[in-house]
Amino acid sequence: MSKARRYLIAGNWKMNGYKKDGRALAKGVAKSLGKYLKKAKGKKAPFDMLVCPPYTLLAPVAEELKGSGVALGAQNCHTAEKGAHTGDISPQMLKDIGCKYVILGHSERRADHGEKDAQVKAKAEAAIAAGLTAIVCIGETLAQRDRNLTLATNRRQLKGSLPEGATAKNTVVAYEPVWAIGTGRTATPEQAQEVHAAIRAELVKALGEEEGNKVRILYGGSMNPKNAKELMAQPDVDGGLIGGAALKPEDFWAVAEGCL
Ligand code: PGA
Repeated sequence: MSKARRYLIAGNWKMNGYKKDGRALAKGVAKSLGKYLKKAKGKKAPFDMLVCPPYTLLAPVAEELKGSGVALGAQNCHTAEKGAHTGDISPQMLKDIGCKYVILGHSERRADHGEKDAQVKAKAEAAIAAGLTAIVCIGETLAQRDRNLTLATNRRQLKGSLPEGATAKNTVVAYEPVWAIGTGRTATPEQAQEVHAAIRAELVKALGEEEGNKVRILYGGSMNPKNAKELMAQPDVDGGLIGGAALKPEDFWAVAEGCL
């Protein structure tokens, strides 16, 4: 199956792994893609592959991924380039260590650190200015879904978090219903598509027809080898942001196979 937009298969490792595990996982991911590319005899894969380890594993994972075609990303960044911000990491530092992407505004950061849309937007703008691609996360809670606020919530979060100057190159949107994250409860393909279509419409409004249609929208929330194909077959689902299933190279690859 092919789409105008190139799929993005992104692994969000969250706060998991020590050096040894991180290296082994990265090696496994690189090996799967390598095997596929070898078989494809020079043909490009129909997806981009990305892993986002915790900060402590960025350097060893960067080493393991060298030349593999698997991209490196981080899970958060500060808005400033440098300075007195104890415990923070700047987008320039991420770039320096080999990152191409950074996940921003994940619901766990919104919940654990009180991140608000305006802050997510500012971080995304800083990330873009540093030459990174921002993966901006949005998604409704179960209470919001139950009160019929799903589309309104996602529209509001997108409007508030979308960086100024967003393009298809520097911005990816990830729709992650909070009730589906780490719960084993996945949105049905129809539920996902309904929200993705609403996000697409907002992107077209904000960025214009051409650019808005080029921006990739990922689904995240218990995506796994069993449900990936059906989800990614939806017209506006352009890949996945994968947590639990990204921690085993064989599962992560099986998810990626969902877009082949
Ligand atoms: P999950 O996490 O796949 O474990 O549900 C996805 C995410 O939070 O990005």
